[in-house]
Amino acid sequence: MPLNYQSVDFVKVLGERRSCRFYDPERPVEVEKVQAICQAARTASHMGNANGVTVTQVTSQDTKDAFTKIVSAFNIPMAKMAPVSLVFALDRSAWYDGLPEMLPMLFKVGGVNPSHGWSLDNIENSTLPRLTSFPEPIVNYLLACETGMAMASAQLMATALGLGSCCYAGNGVAIGETLGFTDSAQFVWAMALGYPGETVESMGYRPRKPYGSIIYKDKFGNPADEDPAVNAELEALGMMGKESALTPERLADINAASEQMGLPTRTDENG
Ligand SMILES: Cc1cc2nc3c(=O)[nH]c(=O)nc-3n(C[C@H](O)[C@H](O)[C@H](O)COP(=O)(O)O)c2cc1C
Repeated sequence: MPLNYQSVDFVKVLGERRSCRFYDPERPVEVEKVQAICQAARTASHMGNANGVTVTQVTSQDTKDAFTKIVSAFNIPMAKMAPVSLVFALDRSAWYDGLPEMLPMLFKVGGVNPSHGWSLDNIENSTLPRLTSFPEPIVNYLLACETGMAMASAQLMATALGLGSCCYAGNGVAIGETLGFTDSAQFVWAMALGYPGETVESMGYRPRKPYGSIIYKDKFGNPADEDPAVNAELEALGMMGKESALTPERLADINAASEQMGLPTRTDENG
């Protein structure tokens, strides 16, 4: 049965998203595109409408220089090449101080309703006291999940705008100090943004575990059915395809991009 997509373009965007590790450092990312990407993060789903995610745009050379020193070693070339990095942090104050405003708002605008047992009385006297008494580690866990959702939306928007992106790690405490985080803010992950210095075709479809080994039905570990016809349709739309491999062409692309950036090249198939 055809899947009847509302938006074939979106399926293509899903298929073209890659973690891109080479960027054109000479080609700036338009501020409008950065804004669109951040709007995608802001409008992603948020638990209790808490909006506990913050994004700090690293754009100026001074901030970038300081920031690049405190990212993980293997991420330094990417942080230097990418004209912009977005720093995603969770803010616990949005939970403890913000939920009492944002959750009732969801009721007031008709997002949650009496149909499902919601009322202002139960939000104020039951749900809010329970949620805002969660200890910090639980709130960190919840907001980190929310931040991941925002990052996923941001990456897809970047892809739709013809940009490359890659999530990357760093020294969270140092990053917080450098960017002036408040006490309630905590670094989650950074994201490089820029015009790609490697193509989607060259990067290929990165290997994933077999469907049934991670997608289960009814019981954990029980492989869900996988219809080859659905996969064929997804492949035809560009969402999936043959897994990437270190072919001579890919090796040549990696080395051309590395040489252009003055980075070490790869000399054999095993690196
Ligand atoms: C939360 C998260 C953190 C990541 N951290 C890094 C990182 O620090 N450095 C890096 O090069 N790639 C990082 N990646 C990218 C993954 O390694 C990448 O997803 C993987 O190589 C699969 O490739 P794909 O995203 O192109 O499908 C991260 C991805 C995610 C989702």
